[in-house]
Amino acid sequence: MAQHIHRAQILHFKVQDQLEHFDDGALVVDDSSGSIIAVGDANSIFAAYPDVDITTHKNKLIMPGFIDSHVHFPQVDVIASYGAQLLDWLNNYTFPTEMSFKDDDKASQTAHFFLNELFKNGTTTALVFATVHKSSVNAFFNASQQYNSRMICGKVMMDRNAPDDLCDTAQTSFADSQELIDQWHNNGRQLYAVTPRFAITSTPEQLEKAGQLLKDNPSVYMQTHLSENIDEINFVKELFPERKSYLDVYDHYGLLGPRSVFAHGVHLEQEDFERLSETKSGIAFCPTSNLFLGSGLFDLQQAQSHQVPVSIASDVGGGTSFSMLQTLNEAYKICQLKGHSLQARDAFYMITLGNAVALSLDDKIGNFEQGKEADFIVMDLASTDLMARKLSTCETLDEMLFSLMILGDDRAIDETFVAGKSVYKKQ
Ligand code: GUN
Ligand code: ZN
Repeated sequence: MAQHIHRAQILHFKVQDQLEHFDDGALVVDDSSGSIIAVGDANSIFAAYPDVDITTHKNKLIMPGFIDSHVHFPQVDVIASYGAQLLDWLNNYTFPTEMSFKDDDKASQTAHFFLNELFKNGTTTALVFATVHKSSVNAFFNASQQYNSRMICGKVMMDRNAPDDLCDTAQTSFADSQELIDQWHNNGRQLYAVTPRFAITSTPEQLEKAGQLLKDNPSVYMQTHLSENIDEINFVKELFPERKSYLDVYDHYGLLGPRSVFAHGVHLEQEDFERLSETKSGIAFCPTSNLFLGSGLFDLQQAQSHQVPVSIASDVGGGTSFSMLQTLNEAYKICQLKGHSLQARDAFYMITLGNAVALSLDDKIGNFEQGKEADFIVMDLASTDLMARKLSTCETLDEMLFSLMILGDDRAIDETFVAGKSVYKKQ
């Protein structure tokens, strides 16, 4: 058995509200299976595991890899496109760009670029939208398989209110999605998500097919968008006048449940929160996107007070950064405007074990429990002069974590390991 020890400061959450921290820690990894063997104080680990090769990451901090619960791989080319709010942004930038993904080379090249960008930012797992093209999902999973990364992805289902070239039909989306599920769900570390884009771009027939796919394949995920923008919500009301809310459209077609992730949920009513909670359906809070597209301020406290599972996400290309640290920075500011200060511990819980729980992956990833998959990052707390200076003034772990989430970005990620193997090292 090929074991390896990584020595550094180490931090992870055993469970929510239970952070474990070793000033001088050691993480024992089984390189052949790519899993965690043990974590602990360096001296006790060295005594228990003599004769194991040690890599010392001097003055660095090891954490579990970050998890991004909502992101679009084809929108690498849409990020930072100027102007307007959701519906115009989709029509002017997103749909034209996604059309180019019928080209397999473009899809494959972008999938590799996207995954490398995630790793460079310390993200090792994500719930990902592809495009309407079946081949874009194959391109993504083929790339992910090469790195052995744990990813969830799905073919976008969209059969109206979009350019003809970007529309499938209820029937073809059903058949293509099932074929992709058969090929990819639980193939290595890959998992499938049924992906109706949002209520505006699916006919009732297509939403029914999405519900059928979930019934036929109970272990797959479901991802879509919900109540992001006021014009969007009004359009959904026009399209589905018989439903009592935007969420109720999805509910009617059987799309709610513990493996369902609804991006945004910025403008929800009390009743919607209750229904999400009842069905254990999750919301992906997308702070940089909600600010960039001017969508509104998500009420994290209200969602959590209803026990709705909330995860946190970049939503690139509506979102403006792949960095989950920068995502926390913007989340903090949104919470400030909502009258609540997000604590650093809660924030780091969210981007590691919390997002793993929200994606029902906490038996596999999210912390350093023995047997879990060895996805971890090595962070450089002095990656900029400003960070080095600020962090040297921090007296407590909470102060250090808070400064890290406000000032940190891709420069703070020194190395990223996926299933025990290095997939990114900062030059
Ligand atoms: N709603 C429907 N499609 C999208 C998308 O691609 N991005 C965002 N932010 N919202 C959407
Ligand atoms: Zn999105």
